[in-house]
Amino acid sequence: MMRLLAMVWVCLMAVLTSAHNPTAGGGGGHKGYSLGIRDSIMIAHSFEGPQFGPAQEMHGATYTVDAEFKTDALVEKSNWVVDIGAASEMLAAVLSKYNFKNLNEIFPGQNTTTEFMCKVIFDELAAKCGKDFHGTLCIKLWESHKAWGCYEGDVGEEVDEA
Ligand SMILES: *[C@@H]1O[C@H](CO)[C@@H](O)[C@H](O)[C@H]1NC(C)=O
Repeated sequence: MMRLLAMVWVCLMAVLTSAHNPTAGGGGGHKGYSLGIRDSIMIAHSFEGPQFGPAQEMHGATYTVDAEFKTDALVEKSNWVVDIGAASEMLAAVLSKYNFKNLNEIFPGQNTTTEFMCKVIFDELAAKCGKDFHGTLCIKLWESHKAWGCYEGDVGEEVDEA
């Protein structure tokens, strides 16, 4: 729980810092467009180590999964950030690998924390959408209405900004 709170705190500070420093790099100071889609997965897993407390026992989680696409420029003519239908299908395809699965079996030797799964989903969705989307992708997994983890990174080919 302390680890989770620390993670939430770090994310909160990152948000506050970027709000006070809109020119910060790495997408932290994003001021352009965004488009978000939402899906969910139901999984089972357990963690290893006393620091995980009761979560050492096998338990289930239904994650709400938010994918947010951020960019400074809309795609010409279509005036969209990303094709929402295609993006939704790509996210669903990525999540289908994990839905109703025991993550311990898919990732042996790993503690499949919320943050860990954010990066897994980010990498797989980024690989799928990189042809059609250039910008920042943020994957956020809500483990309840009280807590979430996120992973954010740049996607697609670098566009030179003169
Ligand atoms: C999970 O994390 C604990 C604490 O850091 C560690 O001791 C353990 O080896 C990890 N388990 C796996 C399967 O990686």
